[in-house]
Amino acid sequence: MTASNPPFGTIGRIHRLLRSNWITSLGAALMTLAALAGVTLVIMHQMGGVWAGPYVGLALTLVVPAVFLLGMVLVPAGLLLFRRHLHERLAAMTDRPLYMARAVVVLTAINFAAVGTVGYSGVHYMSSVQFCGKACHNVMGPEYATYLRSPHQRVECVACHVAPGAQGFIAAKLNGTKQLIGTVLDNYSRPIPTPVHNLVPANVTCEQCHWPEKYLGTKLKVKPHFRTDEKVSGYTNVLLMRTGGTRPDGASVGIHWHVHPEAVVEYVAADEKRTQIPWMRVKHPDGDEEIFTTPGVPAEPRPEGELRRMDCNDCHNRSAHAFELPGDALDVAFTNGLLPRDLPFLKQRALDALQSDWTRENATEGIRKNLQEAYAKDGGIDELRRQKLELAIPQITDIWMRNVWPERKLGWNAYPDLATHVGCFRCHDGQHTSAKGRTVFGPKLMSDGAPIRDGSCDKCHVVLSENEEDPAILDAFGLKR
Ligand code: HEC
Ligand code: HEC
Ligand code: HEC
Ligand code: HEC
Ligand code: HEC
Repeated sequence: MTASNPPFGTIGRIHRLLRSNWITSLGAALMTLAALAGVTLVIMHQMGGVWAGPYVGLALTLVVPAVFLLGMVLVPAGLLLFRRHLHERLAAMTDRPLYMARAVVVLTAINFAAVGTVGYSGVHYMSSVQFCGKACHNVMGPEYATYLRSPHQRVECVACHVAPGAQGFIAAKLNGTKQLIGTVLDNYSRPIPTPVHNLVPANVTCEQCHWPEKYLGTKLKVKPHFRTDEKVSGYTNVLLMRTGGTRPDGASVGIHWHVHPEAVVEYVAADEKRTQIPWMRVKHPDGDEEIFTTPGVPAEPRPEGELRRMDCNDCHNRSAHAFELPGDALDVAFTNGLLPRDLPFLKQRALDALQSDWTRENATEGIRKNLQEAYAKDGGIDELRRQKLELAIPQITDIWMRNVWPERKLGWNAYPDLATHVGCFRCHDGQHTSAKGRTVFGPKLMSDGAPIRDGSCDKCHVVLSENEEDPAILDAFGLKR
């Protein structure tokens, strides 16, 4: 045999290279194993059913690439480490010359094919609701459960949580890896702190679907409520919400004034939770700028802290994950006929049961016993009502189950909705004044946070009826309840 006529061909040469030292051999073995496992898992995943579950996906996106990458590092590492002896060892196997460049090209091509196949389905899978909502089910369970009941249950998690493009994907995965480590080590924050400070800005998420200038006008809002008295008496608040938007003449009006592209509200919060807002700067669509501060806070220099530009999520923070308050959730259940009003004190007793300490394991039994005992007192209830109680109990348990997650320290009101007085009155409390002596409109608040009625109420909504049992205005609309 001569040097110009190698007996092994390219494959043979690669094979010899890979066998030249134990580290390289190990690397090659790991890569082969990972590639085979990857392809098998992709096929399994495509078959659907149980194979499409989150664990196959996790293996595919995390374990397989990790093993493959380790192998990819070991192969050249071994060659480098044993480079002095490389030619000796190869010569010992054969005396043929080595076509190193060709070997590397072929190896790389194989790698790309394998990584490409696994990587493509991996990226696809990592962007799915499955992966986000279920793969880390203990951690994301509450968000997944609320998402499924939100107006956005057909919108993928990544549409709101990941900026479009490769950069956004990589940023999200880096952040996700940090979260995954936290999950594995079980040392992530409970509850997950909000507001989410690194949330992707609304202009690249929400505004991909929603048009901020859209004129939404004035909307009628009918809000039925129930009292905690024996009769579970009802009352209804009726509001005309001035949602507004940008009118055809270009004027930005009403609540959606804030999202006109030229109406910029920036603010500095005094706390991580953004509940205290002592300083804000407003640029009006006509270009006029004004700084508003609470009493005692100077306009300049601006207080330390993050300068945040207000967007959709400063109000609609719970658009996909609305956790209810127990009273509100019960009101909805009474309104929809899921709970009967002829069980005396049902709202009060349900509130007592819901606000006791349960775990996810004992809540179902605990709430059942709690209510049964409450109704067994004072001579008990008749058979018909007892049957109604039995039908009501699962509805009440369900309210607890979908809102309270003790293992994440997520109790009632852990995540308040800011598209309510709580959110608006951080700025609209009649306290924020500018150098010109102008004050951002808003009612003064009583010590319990309730607004003192004044003309400012009507800027956000017209209250057509408040606390009335049977508002006449609903008759006028033909909406008698
Ligand atoms: C319509 C947009 C939207 C969709 C879809 C969405 N989210 Fe969110 N999510 C948000 C916003 C906005 C916040 C920030 C809440 C805050 O800062 O108060 C958030 C917060 C979170 C948080 C932090 C904890 C919390 O409750 O605030 C987690 C975890 C989360 N989302 C997971 C998910 C998962 C998992 C999915 C898919 C099953 C998903 N999200 C889908 C908008 C969305
Ligand atoms: C992929 C498209 C998409 C994205 C992204 C999206 N939305 Fe929506 N959103 C919708 C659709 C569609 C509806 C109407 C759902 C319906 O009424 O059935 C909706 C409804 C809403 C509503 C009205 C809810 C109601 O109860 O009537 C609000 C508020 C809202 N979205 C805010 C947001 C915010 C804030 C974000 C960003 C965090 C966002 N959306 C991101 C598509 C989207
Ligand atoms: C200043 C707070 C605030 C900001 C900022 C804000 N909204 Fe709203 N939005 C509201 C309020 C309040 C309502 C009325 C809700 C109601 O009727 O209960 C509303 C209503 C809506 C509705 C429902 C409209 C309907 O048909 O009744 C949608 C959709 C919506 N907003 C989307 C958005 C999007 C998208 C953004 C960001 C571009 C945004 N909002 C910014 C407070 C805000
Ligand atoms: C971060 C502070 C901030 C928050 C939070 C906030 N606003 Fe505002 N809002 C402002 C400022 C500043 C103005 C402009 C006031 C001015 O120039 O007099 C304004 C203006 C308005 C206007 C008047 C628009 C017009 O036609 O001139 C309405 C209505 C309004 N806000 C409603 C709301 C509602 C409803 C909420 C809660 C869902 C809310 N705002 C939350 C800061 C805020
Ligand atoms: C800065 C804007 C703003 C101002 C000022 C304001 N509100 Fe509201 N109000 C809201 C928003 C937003 C909601 C939530 C609507 C919803 O439930 O979707 C609301 C809801 C209400 C409700 C219905 C509550 C329920 O759950 O039934 C009542 C009643 C009410 N407001 C009364 C008042 C009164 C009285 C004043 C004046 C003292 C006032 N509001 C001032 C923004 C405002």
